[in-house]
Amino acid sequence: MSGDMFHMGWFIGRGYGLPTWNRTWTGNATPREWVQGDYFVEWAQALERACFDIMMFADTAYVPDTFGGSAKTYLNQGHMTPMHDPASLVPVLGYTTKRIGLVATLSTTFYHPYALARLAGTLDSMTGGRFGWNIVTTSSRQAAGCFGVELPEHDERYDIADEFVELAEKLWASWEPDSVAIDEASGIYAEHSKISSVDYEGRHFRSTGPLNVQPSPQGRPVYVQAGGSPRGIRFAAEHAEAVVCMAKGAENMKAFRDSVREHAMAVGRDPDTVKVLYLIDPVVGETQHEVDARVAIRDASRAGGLDGTLTMAGYSAVGGLDLANIDLDAPLADYEPEEGHRAVFEQMMAVGSTLREVLPTLDMAGTDLAGTPDQLAGQMSELIQEVGGDGFLIGGWDATRRRIAEIADGLAPALRRRGLMRDGYSHHTLREHLLEY
Ligand SMILES: Cc1cc2nc3c(=O)[nH]c(=O)nc-3n(C[C@H](O)[C@H](O)[C@H](O)COP(=O)(O)O)c2cc1C
Repeated sequence: MSGDMFHMGWFIGRGYGLPTWNRTWTGNATPREWVQGDYFVEWAQALERACFDIMMFADTAYVPDTFGGSAKTYLNQGHMTPMHDPASLVPVLGYTTKRIGLVATLSTTFYHPYALARLAGTLDSMTGGRFGWNIVTTSSRQAAGCFGVELPEHDERYDIADEFVELAEKLWASWEPDSVAIDEASGIYAEHSKISSVDYEGRHFRSTGPLNVQPSPQGRPVYVQAGGSPRGIRFAAEHAEAVVCMAKGAENMKAFRDSVREHAMAVGRDPDTVKVLYLIDPVVGETQHEVDARVAIRDASRAGGLDGTLTMAGYSAVGGLDLANIDLDAPLADYEPEEGHRAVFEQMMAVGSTLREVLPTLDMAGTDLAGTPDQLAGQMSELIQEVGGDGFLIGGWDATRRRIAEIADGLAPALRRRGLMRDGYSHHTLREHLLEY
């Protein structure tokens, strides 16, 4: 194993939702078939052939209507909605793959810890220890409205999440690791003296327990976190085993990673157990000529057209600011995002002071990379050497079979040829794979 190796994953921002449709490379069947999950099975199998560590699903639980104050763009284009429940997809992918880690986004604001501990324990068992939980606190008032609750204020959501994780861990621990005896001679399945109630009474949650789900292979799911505010980073440093970083440029990536690691050390954790994974959405071409042409297409689509509109609609929903109704040349700092993903708004402000300046860079992913597979492998290796870090998550909106092939059959082999990513799986659980290097 080379000391330069890093982890690869794919963060599917569309979640268990409609893949890219109605474009040149999207086929006819996709918009009708995705609901049954087949598309994602193919995707997971392609990533497993490519030896990815993680396939991760975003999730939101509402129909957005921020952009232009209407749900029209989102619904007409099938953009960010419909979004089906990713936890339901996990067992299907678990049965059709063997080693890749499967991460679903579940919100601490809308689940009860007991329901989530039960679900996550079940999924970890069903996948043989490959389940990860992307812990989100949810920043959408609309989502709160759907659940009929008030959205707590930003930092309080993380305080609630701290308590949520504490209770969930007590529930997972309510069965001692060796409580399931399966002793056929004595006729004992589970040893009752090793299963105890939790009798938890916190500020936000209560539960008597115990959980009615037996211990899963990983004991608890791998914790993943994506949130870039200072409070979000503190939460990540305390709990997360993998952190999604959407910072743009080596300097911002490094600052993010240093901050996560410092906070982890401050709470007594070994920072090497908190893996920082950078979002990238690389343009892949076969020749320099093709790379240049595709970069030009990307830049044009960011600045206008349907792709530009969809990107703005996406940023409006997750950034909590209606980009259809703000002055292109007014300072962004004059606007206060509603209750959005603070990290997203701050990322915008880091690249420019007005929407006109920022628009050409918006892509829901981090640092821009472009090249042939081999060039990209070189660029990724240089970035990791410069910044430090543990790997990359493919992000962006493009979810076509062509895109999957570019990454799984183009980029991954190029990374492997340079000894930068695994060429086989050494373990069975996601945590073991993450901790391997
Ligand atoms: C890259 C990235 C991906 C995210 N994915 C989701 C998601 O799928 N669902 C969700 O509800 N929130 C998602 N979030 C939101 C965060 O979990 C968090 O709630 C939000 O960023 C606000 O916290 P912050 O101010 O600490 O960033 C994501 C955030 C980032 C930065």
